[in-house]
Amino acid sequence: MMDIERKKKDPTLVCTCNDLYVEDIQEAIDDGEQDYDEIMQYHYTQPRCGDCECHVRYLVTGDNSRCDIKELVCGENKS
Ligand code: FES
Repeated sequence: MMDIERKKKDPTLVCTCNDLYVEDIQEAIDDGEQDYDEIMQYHYTQPRCGDCECHVRYLVTGDNSRCDIKELVCGENKS
């Protein structure tokens, strides 16, 4: 499960299961990755709980319409 408390403390932390930060995700995107699974595997990690998918998608597309805006966790626009 995602550690939401940790993520709240550090807005640059994207994936708490794998300790991936915005710059790690950005590196994968800059290298042409678009797909969540591919981006997760870019640093030889794997999606686990999947709760960071919305944040990753937001970094890829700029679309946060399916995220909890404040916490960037998957959900139906909770905020
Ligand atoms: S936070 Fe669990 S897979 Fe990313």
